[in-house]
Amino acid sequence: MLRSHTCGELKIEDVNKEVTLSGWVQKVRDKGGLIWVDLRDRYGITQLLLEEGRSDTSVLETARMLGREYVIKASGKVIERESKNPNISTGSIEIDLTGLEILNTSLTPPFTIEDNTDGGDELRMKYRYLDLRRQPLRKNLELRNRLSIETRKYLDDQKFFEIETPYLIKSTPEGARDFVVPSRMNEGQFYALPQSPQTFKQLLMVAGYDRYYQLVKCFRDEDLRADRQPEFTQIDCEMAFVEQDDILSTFEGMVKYLFNTVKGVKINELPRMEYADAMKYYGSDKPDIRFGMKFVELNDVCKNNGFKIFDDAELVVGIVADGCANYSRKQLDKLTDFVRKPQIGAKGLVYVKYNEDGSFKSSVDKFYDQDALKKWADTMEAKPGDLILVLSGEVDKVRKQLNELRLEMGDRLEMRNPEVFAPLWVVDFPLLEWDEELERYHAMHHPFTSPKQEDINMLDTQPGKVRANAYDLVINGVEIGGGSIRIHDRDLQKLMFKHLGFTETEAQDQFGFLLNAFEYGAPPHGGIALGFDRLAALFGGQDSIRDFIAFPKNNSGRDIMIDSPSVIANEQLDELKIKVIK
Ligand code: AMO
Repeated sequence: MLRSHTCGELKIEDVNKEVTLSGWVQKVRDKGGLIWVDLRDRYGITQLLLEEGRSDTSVLETARMLGREYVIKASGKVIERESKNPNISTGSIEIDLTGLEILNTSLTPPFTIEDNTDGGDELRMKYRYLDLRRQPLRKNLELRNRLSIETRKYLDDQKFFEIETPYLIKSTPEGARDFVVPSRMNEGQFYALPQSPQTFKQLLMVAGYDRYYQLVKCFRDEDLRADRQPEFTQIDCEMAFVEQDDILSTFEGMVKYLFNTVKGVKINELPRMEYADAMKYYGSDKPDIRFGMKFVELNDVCKNNGFKIFDDAELVVGIVADGCANYSRKQLDKLTDFVRKPQIGAKGLVYVKYNEDGSFKSSVDKFYDQDALKKWADTMEAKPGDLILVLSGEVDKVRKQLNELRLEMGDRLEMRNPEVFAPLWVVDFPLLEWDEELERYHAMHHPFTSPKQEDINMLDTQPGKVRANAYDLVINGVEIGGGSIRIHDRDLQKLMFKHLGFTETEAQDQFGFLLNAFEYGAPPHGGIALGFDRLAALFGGQDSIRDFIAFPKNNSGRDIMIDSPSVIANEQLDELKIKVIK
């Protein structure tokens, strides 16, 4: 027997039991007559004890040969510890060793395998299997596993069917670049890896599987960020015979169920915010509503006062930072530097301190007297002691900039607690988005999303104003999921392709299979996909999804452990009839 217990389960009640444990040596402390060994496995750490004069000499000799990360089997009696460690579950006991066997040796690991390691990012990625031995990562994967089990339980309970869709497909127009795979048997032709199973899940609706789901890998060749990986996992779902409300309530149910079962957090009814309001009040389609600080537009009270910057601006808009009127010059300069960073791009920041005594001190005192500033404060519902921060410029740009400033203030004022969860639905997204580069519209969500019935007549005249039956699930400022009610009518789908700049032949070439399927009784349908890695990271209280994926890619899209991507052998290239031109 290699083990009778794990390293995380023995407690004071187990004292006097004879046990056998196996695991990795985390640490050996040899204090002359006494040797302690910390033994680790997936479940925890248990302390082993040897004592000169009392323990068997061969056991003592073996213990003196141990190095970090050696794999050992240890037997002995559970005894109560003299100095207990309240920080670990096995902290009240230790094992008085009577047997010790080295199962395997180990090289000295390149970094310490402890909660706070000394290893840098790249090194830990190279030796990911060692990094995964650390408890924080182990806990992340445990959380991910729990989430996937509870997701499946909920969806199964709701009569969803898990169906696998192919990975070798034809390009789906989700907006990012495709990863492609050459086909040996079809010279010069390529498969694409799915950016999502979008068209397949719609075909499953045509096939009559009216509630589909899949925890599925998706592949997108896009620039990486903390919340983006080239391959990631979605909880992908589709339902037939539903309207938007049915989908929102089904997945609101799932969000509540997951928070409750996995985190023990009760979530109230999710607010719904129209996209237009999200942009107007938060400058973002993924507002973080854990805190207020909503935007207040100030055109009416700020303009036509001789301050040219505001007079020329399309929009003057501000936020109120509660209790920050005492900000020092230095703090205000830092905020100005923040908004001027090239990534944010504001030209400057106007501030108004609403002093406790009711007076005002602003960076635009030359242009606005106390009465004028009082008007700003009243419009913004600011109180004495508050700080007003104002930006101006073109509507879209200034909203984006103020969104960044709002989030920065949220961080500074510690209003973005990762243990507080504020989910909401953002609804009524625009159907189309203007593409500056291509100088044409593209689908904001994807080309299968249906326009709102009442807006269809604007498709020809004001395409940018047409709203879609599309929605996003946003939690704590993160886009966790997105979906829509689909077009199920062939003619409307053709019309959409036309508006997206496809000729009839192009539409038939790329999407003929879907258009044809729509000739055979496509039911009304819609769906959603949740980013599973993002959900796991959110539940784990972190911004980056990387440590919630067992083997992620680095920022250049490389797996540095297996050294991929890599060149392939000439024979393989020949077989694929591919010539690499360097
Ligand atoms: P969408 O493109 O919005 O919708 O993707 C759904 C969710 O997937 C997550 N996500 C990502 N997570 C990690 N890395 C990435 N590179 C990445 N890209 C997206 C996000 C996002 O909200 N087929 C539609 C869904 C539908 O209409 O049903 C789709 O894929 O959390």
